[in-house]
Amino acid sequence: MTQGQAEEVVESAVAPRENEQYMEDEEEGVNGPLLIEQLEGNGITAGDIRKLKAEGFHTIESVAYTPKKALLAVKGISEAKADKISLEAAKLVPLGFTTASEFHSRRSELICITTGSKQLDTLLGGGVETGSITEVFGEFRTGKSQLCHTLAVTCQLPIDMGGGEGKCLYIDTEGTFRPVRLVSIAQRYGLNPDDCLDNVAYARAYNADHQFQLLNLAAQMMAESRFSLLIVDSIMSLYRTDYSGRGELSARQSHVAKYMRTLQRLADEFGIAVVITNQVVAQVDGASAMFNPDPKKPIGGNIIAHSSTTRLSFKKGKAETRICKVYDSPCLPESECVFAIYEDGIGDPKVEEDS
Ligand SMILES: Nc1ncnc2c1ncn2[C@@H]1O[C@H](COP(=O)(O)OP(=O)(O)O)[C@@H](O)[C@H]1O
Ligand SMILES: [Mg+2]
Repeated sequence: MTQGQAEEVVESAVAPRENEQYMEDEEEGVNGPLLIEQLEGNGITAGDIRKLKAEGFHTIESVAYTPKKALLAVKGISEAKADKISLEAAKLVPLGFTTASEFHSRRSELICITTGSKQLDTLLGGGVETGSITEVFGEFRTGKSQLCHTLAVTCQLPIDMGGGEGKCLYIDTEGTFRPVRLVSIAQRYGLNPDDCLDNVAYARAYNADHQFQLLNLAAQMMAESRFSLLIVDSIMSLYRTDYSGRGELSARQSHVAKYMRTLQRLADEFGIAVVITNQVVAQVDGASAMFNPDPKKPIGGNIIAHSSTTRLSFKKGKAETRICKVYDSPCLPESECVFAIYEDGIGDPKVEEDS
């Protein structure tokens, strides 16, 4: 990258809100979510709005997508009021059928965030998709957190550089977030490291309930400024310590289900990419255990399996290389590629020149 190019990147990425085109879109409400305040009137009071916000509903999309049951659960919202709110929200948020061609053209506008590796981006059809949940699972030291660190930087880049022109929200449940890693990754992309760090909102989650509460705060922050990525590294570790044994399994899974539903809601509502990491355990049953010498499966069972849109499996390769395999995706074939972990983030493996 030339010096000039680098400066251009710094300018547009560090202050995405000053990007003119971007502001215009937002003013017209084309890209941005509709703030819940706009529902006021027609029998919906400022007090009602306050009650909704206290429960994590910050946009009209959030109430439009939620089941009535969830609105009734908001303190001080009556049945008649819940109906009224749903009705008014539905007027502003399209909820009906659309043609496949219209849906296709809308999907082609979806932004993909670069992973830092061209091969990995190609495998993923452009990068990590916004509007959906991508799960990365694998053993310890396979590069899951390193990918999260790289994405926390690349999501800030301008769209034509493979970014999402937004900030990153990072929920860390294992205490492995290292801001110093972001500094070297920012330098690789010609971003100002200080601004880059300022654009990452970090929270350490201490238990499963806290991990959930953070999503409420996340929704609030996302309604206030443009985020393009939400990371949860890792999704299940606190559940494993907070819920133990078979007896608590069903309580755990219903909590996980609620968590995943909320993540998907945030992805829909704010058009952000959601990336979660997951641990694996030895698989002792089933056919794969018979044919695979070292079978491992992600934890969290069917709930995680069904609510992650794209599931990626990471394995160790030679030295700094790692192998990524598409494990499950609505539109990608089951193929794999090799990437590498470097000081400046995820990249392509260096070509060996020893022959
Ligand atoms: N600054 C760095 N430069 C190069 N490689 C690094 C750097 N920091 C960590 N790594 C590599 O990343 C790997 C750990 O990846 P990590 O993403 O933490 O794994 P996990 O899948 O457990 O989250 C280690 O093998 C380490 O060698
Ligand atoms: Mg990790």
